[in-house]
Amino acid sequence: MINQRTLIIGANSGIATALTLALLKDTDRQLILITRNIEHLQGIDSNQAIPIHVNNYDEQSIKRAVSKLQAMKALPITQVFICSGILHSRNIKPEKRLEDFDANAFSQIINANTLSPILWLKHLTTLLTSEHTCKVTVFSARVGSTSDNKLGGWYSYRCSKAALNMLLKTVAIEFARRAKNIKVIAFHPGTTDTPLSKPFQKNVPVGKLFTREFVAKQLLDIVEKTPVDGELSYLDWQGKHINF
Ligand SMILES: NC(=O)c1ccc[n+]([C@@H]2O[C@H](COP(=O)([O-])OP(=O)(O)OC[C@H]3O[C@@H](n4cnc5c(N)ncnc54)[C@H](OP(=O)(O)O)[C@@H]3O)[C@@H](O)[C@H]2O)c1
Repeated sequence: MINQRTLIIGANSGIATALTLALLKDTDRQLILITRNIEHLQGIDSNQAIPIHVNNYDEQSIKRAVSKLQAMKALPITQVFICSGILHSRNIKPEKRLEDFDANAFSQIINANTLSPILWLKHLTTLLTSEHTCKVTVFSARVGSTSDNKLGGWYSYRCSKAALNMLLKTVAIEFARRAKNIKVIAFHPGTTDTPLSKPFQKNVPVGKLFTREFVAKQLLDIVEKTPVDGELSYLDWQGKHINF
């Protein structure tokens, strides 16, 4: 019988689709799949997975999606995965050198990778604060680690994930005071075979390009094992801590 709920935001992301398939095996769990593109979700069991369409990931769209959630039958939300994010687009390429830096591209990447996740947390918090444990995983990246930055380049993406990590750290401090049931995880999936990594896969060492299914399985295991301790955990696909 369904007795808990998982939210997957950016549900069409390559990794999110694998997570969805893995989580559908838990018959006690309802999935809420939040995405700009619900056509991709056709064929998924509608009793167990409910799509919510968003126009984009700005604050108005986020507020509307959260209102729809509030109007649904109450079920404890025990997991949230914020999987959305961009590295490149038709008009954006990660910078190789300083001269490639572009203010408009920077602001699009910051909007997608930094602003949108914190706005989701801002609007979801009231729904997550309860006696039930809730583990919130936000997709970060190792390149957002300042201490790990040995290669340079990718100014906007690096900065967007470093800023995301700082926001999540600050959220975890606040939750330790006022929402002790919520655990926050900043997750680095490793290089995973999805549209996001496609243009950069040829330089990935053999055995280091992961399938989405592998990463989804690792992540679910990590979420289960990570305790609710009032801290931000910045973890890679092996569950190992990454230095900020
Ligand atoms: N793949 C990797 O190698 C890798 C490595 C390190 C970190 N990551 C991080 O892992 C997360 C998932 O990546 P993925 O590889 O699964 O990516 P993906 O397959 O390219 O999917 C990214 C998703 O982000 C959403 N999105 C697209 N444009 C957006 C925008 N302008 N604003 C906000 N959201 C937008 C879309 O969700 P909807 O279509 O559902 O709306 C899209 O499906 C990202 O945060 C990424 O930075 C990935």
